[in-house]
Amino acid sequence: MKLHLLRSAAAEPLWALLLKGYSRRRFFLFILAVALFPALTHPGLALASDSGKAYTPQRGQIGKDVMWIPTPQGLVDKMLDVAKVTSRDRVFDLGAGDGIIAITAAGRYGAQSVGIEYNPQLAEFARRKALEAGVADKVRIITGDIFKEDFSSATVVTLYLYPDLNMRLRPTLLAMKPGTRVVSHAFTMGEWEPDDTVVHESARAYLWVVPASVDGEWTISGLEGGQARLYLQQTFQQVGGTLTRNGLTQPLVGARVRGDELSFKLISPQREVVEFTGKVSGSQIRGTLSGANLNTEVEGRRR
Ligand SMILES: C[S@@+](CC[C@H](N)C(=O)[O-])C[C@H]1O[C@@H](n2cnc3c(N)ncnc32)[C@H](O)[C@@H]1O
Repeated sequence: MKLHLLRSAAAEPLWALLLKGYSRRRFFLFILAVALFPALTHPGLALASDSGKAYTPQRGQIGKDVMWIPTPQGLVDKMLDVAKVTSRDRVFDLGAGDGIIAITAAGRYGAQSVGIEYNPQLAEFARRKALEAGVADKVRIITGDIFKEDFSSATVVTLYLYPDLNMRLRPTLLAMKPGTRVVSHAFTMGEWEPDDTVVHESARAYLWVVPASVDGEWTISGLEGGQARLYLQQTFQQVGGTLTRNGLTQPLVGARVRGDELSFKLISPQREVVEFTGKVSGSQIRGTLSGANLNTEVEGRRR
């Protein structure tokens, strides 16, 4: 009640209060409150305190595409750990709820974080929690729809949605910058297999690292005896293929792409294991082929 009185008083200029004949005692109390608690008279903060107190989200309450159930703090920590979040990251939580993931990413990992929440009251509640946690400068809660808002600047995306929503988001996630980490509480991404899994009590979360596109034919230079042809066939992070050199075609073993890193092994004609590790950047691959008697920088261009 007092808060409410103070907010309505603060919204009026002093001369208006005097004109309205505020009693001296009330006026004195108002001045005292402004001096002691300047936050109360800041319109944004006052609104957050007021509406946040009045509104308490209920577990299982209906959301636009999925209800609100918060991820337990223990799993939030593991999700951000497995994604190796640091202060250089920009974490987006799609369907932010009370902001627990965005607030933890900012508070414990120093990341910039953004939560997208459709329910305006829940979004406001999350903003107030960010303020209370002292991370309002690092956390932005957007009131919006995850299928309309742009989250392409994320380096880490977290989700606790539903299988069909994950599948709807999958093409957008796969088109993000290679190396972007995606962590989903409870639900998978269809046949895109997770790169890692974490468990907290009975809850589980999955990590994917957005793979670079390597599918196709590549011309490899830098090898003795002229150019080689690398043929790669990709399904998400799984890669198969062959390397053809001097008329000899060899299958690749254990080929995979994690973010922008491509690696594979092959058995040389001398029956030695040769390993390639390199980085993909658009239509270029640069890396090293190494083995017992080999250590060569090579470069590939997509044909
Ligand atoms: C299961 S809760 C997860 C909350 C939070 N990410 C967490 O892990 O604690 C899903 C949240 O998504 C919100 N939501 C549902 N559909 C949405 C949509 N289309 N756009 C934005 N938020 C949505 C719900 O209101 C709810 O808060």
